Amino acid sequence: MHDTLLLFGATGDLSQRYLFPSLQHLLRDRLLPPEFRVIAVGRSEYDDGGFQAWLRERLANGDSRDDAALEDLLRRTRYHALDLNDADAMAAALSQYADRPSVSYLSTPPDLFAPATRGLKAAGLLEGESRLVLEKPIGHDLASAREINATLKAALDESRIFRIDHYLGKAPVQNLLALRFGNTLMEAVWHNRWIESVDIMVAETAGVDGREGYYAHYGALRDMVQNHMLQLLALIAMEPPSALDADSIRDEKRKVLRSLRPMTVADVAQDSVRGRYADGVVDGQAVRGFKHDSDVETFVALRAYIDNWRWSGVPFRLVTGKRMPSRATEVLVSFKPVSHWVFERPSKERARHNRLRMRLQPEETIELGLMGSLAAPEWGATELQPMSLDLSMSPAPKRRIAYERLLVDALKGDQTLFVRDDEVEAAWQWIDSISDAWRKAGTPAQPYPAGSWGPAAAEAFLPATLSGNGHRKKSE
Ligand code: BG6
Repeated sequence: MHDTLLLFGATGDLSQRYLFPSLQHLLRDRLLPPEFRVIAVGRSEYDDGGFQAWLRERLANGDSRDDAALEDLLRRTRYHALDLNDADAMAAALSQYADRPSVSYLSTPPDLFAPATRGLKAAGLLEGESRLVLEKPIGHDLASAREINATLKAALDESRIFRIDHYLGKAPVQNLLALRFGNTLMEAVWHNRWIESVDIMVAETAGVDGREGYYAHYGALRDMVQNHMLQLLALIAMEPPSALDADSIRDEKRKVLRSLRPMTVADVAQDSVRGRYADGVVDGQAVRGFKHDSDVETFVALRAYIDNWRWSGVPFRLVTGKRMPSRATEVLVSFKPVSHWVFERPSKERARHNRLRMRLQPEETIELGLMGSLAAPEWGATELQPMSLDLSMSPAPKRRIAYERLLVDALKGDQTLFVRDDEVEAAWQWIDSISDAWRKAGTPAQPYPAGSWGPAAAEAFLPATLSGNGHRKKSE
């Protein structure tokens, strides 16, 4: 396990909210090597003491409060104020850390990936066994992603490049692999003969506050669908890998992404909805709409098709939005109804579907919806009732920040939960087909009130039944 982490973008939001708290937890749990050190790099002018004081203030008030681990982290942290466009300055300040293999983590906007890589190279930090970790987004479209990938590969081998998609570090996402490939039952029904549709929903109550500039350039399609949602889709739809190593899994995910049917102007008219939140109320609080000159969307609903043997004809509905009524990340696999219904009740067809519901956030649960019979007191007609089989782990495993797992894996050199160049490009290729079609068709981002489930046109894309807290339930 490498023991030197260089963290670029150290004063940024991600570092404050997730990366440093993750390191703190890992130190607390003794999951990092004894000589572990953090070289933090940012633009703000701090010396070591100033940065440590700044970080102490940020972390001591968070929910990661743990004084001993915090002090341990601060003791191991050095700081450099550097301009990542200045390769000479980077080399002068950082070459001292090239004494042993390191992991450099670029938690920076993607336009800094190329200059930072040059600076790291000049500092000798990409040699030998050293690794490079990149935060999303990898580009803005296929062309820019290819450019970034080419720059990276000119500096170091793909086996040492770790592209983060933090959804892959979430425990329930990894559980998807266990559920699918550790069970005979699941795999036997996991195809278009038995599955009717798949819903993937990532609803957030948060808005884009504080990130307007970034968001206005990206929008929900590029910010959420290109990466997190397509990674979920790929894990759900991939063929069983022959082994559990990084490339066997990534080969299978890439095949799925390449089988996504590109969308045309005609397709986006019926299979997509773009939305943008207007003023409204979320959690009882009045919030302002997202106003910006660009026509960017904060909500997307898509009906995607995977053109291969296993999934032909099965719609994958992807819905994500900011300022929704509640936070919910769910995957819902709906099975086809039984071929011949012999019971009197329930008479409504929709209630008869078996469903596998995986809830990733805010709770982590897995439920299998089945039909059962309650002995009717009057010994009348056999009345079937939906019942649900709780497949959640008991006792529940310790909840961790997704980045904890990803940081450990990057330090260990395990690429399984990181995204390969060809996966990123395949995902962009499909995303580009949608953004091109939207542009050609002039598809507008329709306003929806903050605190609602998106524009009215998206109703047909919302999962028929989502669990919990005030989800709108469509009529059964
Ligand atoms: C990030 C997006 O990648 O994921 C954000 O840039 C989004 O816009 C976030 O809010 C969601 O992550 P999580 O883990 O809170 O679901």
